[in-house]
Amino acid sequence: MDENKLQKLLQEMTLQEKIEQLVQLDSSFFDNDGVCTGPVEKFAMTEEQPYRVGSLLGVRGAAKIIDLQDRMMALQPHHIPALFMLDVIHGYQTIFPVPIAIGSSFNPELAEQVTAVAAREASAAGVQVTFSPMIDLVRDSRWGRCMEATGEDPWLNARMAEHMVRGFQGDNMARKGKMASCIKHFAAYGAVQAGRDYNVTELSEHTLLEDYLVSYRAAVKAGAAMVMTAFNTIDRKPCTTNRRLLRDILREDMGFDGVVISDFSALRETIVFGTSRDHADAARQGIVAGCDIEMMSECYLHHLEELIRTGEVSETMVDEAVMRILRLKNALGLFENPYKDASVEDEKRLIFCEEHQALSRSVAEECIVLLKNDGLLPLSDKQKIVVAGALAQDREITGSWALFADWNQTITMRKGIETLYPQADVTFFPSDNVTEDMLAAARTADVVILALGENQRSTGESQSKADISLSKEHTAMFEAVYAVNPRIVTVLFGGRPLAVPELAAKTSALVEAWLPGSCGCYALADILFGRVNPSGRLSMSMPYCTGQLPISYGANLTGRPKPEKDGFFAFTSNYLDAPNEPLYPFGYGLSYGEVSYSPVTLDSYILQKDGQITACVTMENRCELPVKEAVQLYLRDMHGSVIRPERELKGLQKVSLQPGESRQVTFVITEDMLRFYDADMHYVSEPGAFRLWIGHDSLTENSVDFILA
Ligand code: GLC
Repeated sequence: MDENKLQKLLQEMTLQEKIEQLVQLDSSFFDNDGVCTGPVEKFAMTEEQPYRVGSLLGVRGAAKIIDLQDRMMALQPHHIPALFMLDVIHGYQTIFPVPIAIGSSFNPELAEQVTAVAAREASAAGVQVTFSPMIDLVRDSRWGRCMEATGEDPWLNARMAEHMVRGFQGDNMARKGKMASCIKHFAAYGAVQAGRDYNVTELSEHTLLEDYLVSYRAAVKAGAAMVMTAFNTIDRKPCTTNRRLLRDILREDMGFDGVVISDFSALRETIVFGTSRDHADAARQGIVAGCDIEMMSECYLHHLEELIRTGEVSETMVDEAVMRILRLKNALGLFENPYKDASVEDEKRLIFCEEHQALSRSVAEECIVLLKNDGLLPLSDKQKIVVAGALAQDREITGSWALFADWNQTITMRKGIETLYPQADVTFFPSDNVTEDMLAAARTADVVILALGENQRSTGESQSKADISLSKEHTAMFEAVYAVNPRIVTVLFGGRPLAVPELAAKTSALVEAWLPGSCGCYALADILFGRVNPSGRLSMSMPYCTGQLPISYGANLTGRPKPEKDGFFAFTSNYLDAPNEPLYPFGYGLSYGEVSYSPVTLDSYILQKDGQITACVTMENRCELPVKEAVQLYLRDMHGSVIRPERELKGLQKVSLQPGESRQVTFVITEDMLRFYDADMHYVSEPGAFRLWIGHDSLTENSVDFILA
């Protein structure tokens, strides 16, 4: 439908119809087999009204959506199709590793493949919009939703965000197998104070713009169709009614012209925050701030009409919001085909097909992070192996937003090992109880594998923790086994980095498996037995203890840095009871063997404002296995009009090398990579000295200096 026809349609609509387009209801208004993702409160509607709203969330299944669309269009006075939206976060039914793990692949192109498959399955099931990717920066693993983000680094998050949006939308979201992407949660939800979900944030303008909004800018530039507002406040104003955030920053500065939707009942919750006096005030503030769709609360539905009649809200603002929604429906081709890709046949053919399962497995191979290995890994199928821990046989290691997974399809750690290594002598004790039988078997084993950490019930929305230490039960299990046999491989499951310093010091090997998705435990088995060389790198620092949080690599400097890593130094920035450094930093991860790097060289040591310089290293794979190496480029501005980070990730190449293979890797450095918000909030670079590193992780010392003229 062309723009003129959309404008004509808008003109023909009644005010009540327009307001109904701004309302989103979840599946509980239509049936009882949806998935609840928020505090559902019924609100007064006529029996017919739910069938006239502009969009739904939580409904899925081709047959159901086709039927519901028919009923809704029949009752909508202009037969405008509804939008069907869903949380397809890291897969629809073929579930991929949780996003914090996908971030640890350091492979944005892989992330694009993931969301392309998710879109293919979800669109066949009739879903047209996904509330994904979640692109919040996370530096505090007390917050349960860090599992849903791709990590602590602005630059890596931006690359992941743009690729994930492209995977969902392609270059035309009306195409078969594509869907609209709704990025979230705008903005800085990951900065909630004390890591407690739904809390306020307190951020400087510099930190907001330089760290938390970078991924949004990239995702908007990549064409994200929608933005969801966050539950938290920015500058003490709830995001959902925060006009500066939604109009000045998102629309004016970032150039976003798509649809803004509130999070689940977030508009009504501005009353609880005390910034809206009542539902009518919330409705007025929401539409004025630029929130187009109200998800699962009734402020617009019950109060917008009166606000327009009394002149408190201009109907033009409602028209603009409705027009953005009509344009989105049009961009999805819904006026020509209101069912888009909904097809029972395609559902059967595509969902959880072999190809998708294979990708779920190969993605996990690049997400699992080897953090320590005293030589005990890889295992041999000639060894006597004992595996203990309930998580070894727990299907709920798929991910807390894997709402539509078929748990029977999830490959557990036990299933992965027994299927791929049937010849191995492995005895399983899939319980967290320390029994005499288990200890007796552990005592005489060549290797004991402990499956510890968290399953998906301990991570995700409203799953914040005040202490991210390993549970007492798992600590007791580790100590009991260690007392009889120190040859332990610890596999950590979970959606957040846990603080495990004592265990890390004692275990012979430590593997972060995250929540690896439907087929991730095949990858885990192949890594443990050495068929796959681990290549994951931490997308989020693993803290030494909860007290270090929030923590991130390259954190801003201090006037009194601690002179050395160990010990306490008076009058310097350090703790009495813990190191400053995390247990393992961002970008860190091991492989079976070493990849060597030559010293960095530059083709010039002076960068002109309008020029470029090229940095080069030669790397060699000294592993006995092929390796996928995440080569990381970091930059530091040695002096600035404001303090600058100790280093920032500004480049990444994932390089595959055969054993013994060498490869030259180059990075082009340009002036725009050196820009930041100066003391006057201008986004500029400042001439002077810079340092550049290229290496294996954020600890690399392989550096060279250059000047920006
Ligand atoms: C939830 C989440 C949000 C999700 C929405 C719809 O409260 O905060 O990420 O997309 O509701 O399910």
